[in-house]
Amino acid sequence: KNILVLHGPNLNMLGIREPGVYGNTGLPAINEKLQKLADKLSFTLDIFQSNHEGELIDRIHGAFGVKDGILINPGAFTHYSYAIRDALSAVSLPIVEVHLSNIHKRESFRHVSVTAPVVIGQIAGFGPYSYELGLLALHEHLQSPA
Ligand code: DQA
Repeated sequence: KNILVLHGPNLNMLGIREPGVYGNTGLPAINEKLQKLADKLSFTLDIFQSNHEGELIDRIHGAFGVKDGILINPGAFTHYSYAIRDALSAVSLPIVEVHLSNIHKRESFRHVSVTAPVVIGQIAGFGPYSYELGLLALHEHLQSPA
């Protein structure tokens, strides 16, 4: 199976950015771990990070008819990007949303996810492991779609 992995804005700054919230692990290390898990699951990953809404939307559109699922951390776009939500909804693929931090115990503006209603489910609060849990969830779903 081919999975598109999308990292939204500011996630290229992981390891430097607010380590008290997001930890010390950088994005390359997260991607490496994810790739190892993908190898075990016989998944092929296409991993992309962007700070630009339109670039993320273009990648989502590009997944249509090509990828089997999407794993996405939309970063702050989670909370207000109806355009990303609509793009995710448009491609009708299985999608899992992940967050390093538990967005529900942070500032109130982070409690809302406009993307959550168009994905299978959301995983938040497990640091880099959120991504691995998300990939496992996608794997399970693709084995036996509900
Ligand atoms: C985040 C949570 C968002 O609220 C924040 O804007 C991010 C990262 C997370 O992974 O915890 O950029 O998506």
